[in-house]
Amino acid sequence: MAEPSTTTPSIHLCASGELRESAQAVPFDVKYYGQVCRGFAVRFQGEVHAYLNRCTHVPIELDYQPGRVFDASGQWLMCATHGASYWPKTGDCVGGPCRGGLVKIALSESAGEVRWHTSEKLKPIEISHE
Ligand code: FES
Repeated sequence: MAEPSTTTPSIHLCASGELRESAQAVPFDVKYYGQVCRGFAVRFQGEVHAYLNRCTHVPIELDYQPGRVFDASGQWLMCATHGASYWPKTGDCVGGPCRGGLVKIALSESAGEVRWHTSEKLKPIEISHE
């Protein structure tokens, strides 16, 4: 599977320090095929990763409490509803009732900042300036 590109336009997501190893996810909003959806970013084995927050079993968010997407071991991303498990580095399904992997969102990290990268399918939401 091709890795998502990090050469496309990017948008500030959070400070590097907000993503701690196998800990709380940082949520952010994206437009996925024109629909506003929640994404989340985590740090795992030192690297930052982000996915659409949409289980592949039933298209609902994974969290069992806001931002809690790791299982108790901190080794797997786990859906709270029926226990589908995903490998944090790729989003691949590794157990439970998932059908395929999570939708990966490309990230880059430099100078203490994490940014997410747009793609054909993933766009920023418009900010209202009212
Ligand atoms: S909705 Fe995620 S495992 Fe069923």
